[in-house]
Amino acid sequence: KLDVRTLQRNYEDYGEKEVTVGGWVRSIRNSKNFSFMVLNDGSFFTPVQVVFSADKLANYEEISHQNVGAAVWVTGLVTLTPEMKQPFEIQATEIEVEGPSTPDYPLQKKRHTLEYLRTLPHLRARTNTFEAAFRVRSVAAYAIHKFFQERDFVYTHTPILTSSDAEGAGEMFQATTLDLKDVPVDEKGNVDFTQDFYGKPVNLTVSGQLQGETFAQAFKKIYTFGPTFRAENSNTTRHAAEFWMIEPEIAFADLEDAMELAEAMLKYVIAYVMEHCPEEIAFFNSFVDKGLIDRLNHVVRSDFGRISYTDAVAELEKHNDEFEYKVFWGCDLQTEHERYLTEKIFKRPVFVTDYPKEIKAFYMKLNEDGRTVAAVDCLVPEIGEIIGGSQREDDYDKLLSRIRENGMDESTYGYYLDLRKYGSTRHAGFGLGFERLVMYLTGIANIRDVLPFPRTVGNCEL
Ligand code: 4AD
Ligand code: MG
Repeated sequence: KLDVRTLQRNYEDYGEKEVTVGGWVRSIRNSKNFSFMVLNDGSFFTPVQVVFSADKLANYEEISHQNVGAAVWVTGLVTLTPEMKQPFEIQATEIEVEGPSTPDYPLQKKRHTLEYLRTLPHLRARTNTFEAAFRVRSVAAYAIHKFFQERDFVYTHTPILTSSDAEGAGEMFQATTLDLKDVPVDEKGNVDFTQDFYGKPVNLTVSGQLQGETFAQAFKKIYTFGPTFRAENSNTTRHAAEFWMIEPEIAFADLEDAMELAEAMLKYVIAYVMEHCPEEIAFFNSFVDKGLIDRLNHVVRSDFGRISYTDAVAELEKHNDEFEYKVFWGCDLQTEHERYLTEKIFKRPVFVTDYPKEIKAFYMKLNEDGRTVAAVDCLVPEIGEIIGGSQREDDYDKLLSRIRENGMDESTYGYYLDLRKYGSTRHAGFGLGFERLVMYLTGIANIRDVLPFPRTVGNCEL
């Protein structure tokens, strides 16, 4: 019993040999006494073609009337067909139906829109585009682990349920066992979380960074790779409520070290996926984004640009008439500005550093100017921000005053402040949004189409 992958990769070795392959019918085309079946089992991007005829199959009638989507076993001879478009076909001697399909199978042999396919989250992985996208996703995840493991980073599992707000931005989903119909309220009218499962409010994590930092102060080099959640009410093509993030954290390191790591990581993962998913990348390059392969090659070969926020703002201000939102020092850069910088000015990925402290998280290290922090965002063409990171504030007093300035509840950050008391080190890290990376690797324009089961505003199917 063979996978389509093994057969496709080694078909010459199977010439004139008998094979058995199980898979799902992509299409059936009937002539008078023989028929063609296109079969795939998801193991390889390119399906196999099966020829079957009335004189060889006792159940020819049954098979030729199968519906698209049926699961079948095909046994037959591999016949090399060098003169044809596909270099071999299977001439079936036996076909057995494992599970038939009904005529209302929603994936027919025509091009469906991505929007329509989003309504079929349980079936869309059987289409070319999604099969390719989710294999790239799997291979990219493996490449990320490989990159960090080869460099002796410790993979750290940070919690999904947490009592900290890592970004201090309040964009959290609360996890509670309290019954909304009967929420207990204390004397002041506030929800009484002492009655809740943990006896206090608990959220789904927005980032594993703070817990990750505790491990970095023990192992020096760590990374997380797991799901994170944001209750951002932004209905865009780049935001999801549940997304995966990779967050390396390194002790005895500064912002420059974090940028070098980020650049090496992105290049490594791109090169790995191009090498290990050539069929998928070629498909995306033909059908989704004609410039994809050139762009990915260019990224692997070029040095990323570097610019400070202050200089970037000065550059962008010259083009203010082209923007919907005008740029000024102190503003948060919008996607249109990020894309302008990376697509029009740098024409390659670019690191923007040293943002005003007001628009960045409380944990970032204050620069000597007292008004900017040692932050970095990595921007890439077509997407904008793919990575956000920083050097962390390692001074106890400065961190405490940042927590207070931000009006945060300092009692929940005691452990985090402790790290600045017991052998504090310079340290830095970043977060890579995994879906944005997969978008970048495939040219797919909507985050909903690189997440197996997307959760966005108003949408949580399955
Ligand atoms: O810039 P962010 O918010 O940074 C952090 O969470 C830091 N704790 C990371 C760190 O320094 N360890 O998020 C990091 C990245 C973004 O650059 C973006 O790629 C992605 O996570 N991201 C999202 N991806 C999809 N949907 C969302 N709602 C996202 N929010 C952030
Ligand atoms: Mg960010």
